[in-house]
Amino acid sequence: MSVLVVYSSRTGNTRKVAEAALAALPTQVVLAPVEDSPAPGEHQAVIIGFWVDRGRPDPKTLKYVKKLKGLKVAAFGTLGAQPDSPHARDVLRQTEKVLQGNELLGMFLCQGRVDPAVVETMKRSGHHPMTPERLANIQEADRHPDKTDLENAQSFFKNLYDTIAKEK
Ligand SMILES: Cc1cc2nc3c(=O)[nH]c(=O)nc-3n(C[C@H](O)[C@H](O)[C@H](O)COP(=O)(O)O)c2cc1C
Repeated sequence: MSVLVVYSSRTGNTRKVAEAALAALPTQVVLAPVEDSPAPGEHQAVIIGFWVDRGRPDPKTLKYVKKLKGLKVAAFGTLGAQPDSPHARDVLRQTEKVLQGNELLGMFLCQGRVDPAVVETMKRSGHHPMTPERLANIQEADRHPDKTDLENAQSFFKNLYDTIAKEK
């Protein structure tokens, strides 16, 4: 059995999660950046790793998932917001939508440091007022993904792998 993990990462957070998960899994897991456009069909399942861009999976991921039809899939993502926030729930809904037509086995989100240049742009644009809550959230995101996030991701991946192996 082989599983493909395809990830998209602009500043490294999502790559870190993908690599940590890979370390916890059997050798039949293939890790590839989305830029390599790996063929999904040869694997028993495809796990998609994305970063959140304006409430949805990032554009490279959106393009890649169009190739997936009738496959067992799962997804993990990193975002600036808290993973238990209404915004994160929205992200999960959007992710589910773009993976329609496949069998979705699970999803996982954790926080990821927001590029300081992006934070500056947000401050200047006025579209995202820097409320104390938003600022605290960005400061918290700065410490992620942390050890606990990576451990949680590893448990998510292990459970997923067991499910896929059982269904085979
Ligand atoms: C252009 C842009 C848009 C973003 N939009 C969101 C967003 O809508 N919600 C959110 O929680 N985080 C957002 N973020 C934060 C990233 O999703 C987060 O920092 C992520 O961990 C980056 O992952 P990476 O290091 O793998 O690129 C955005 C970041 C950028 C650069």
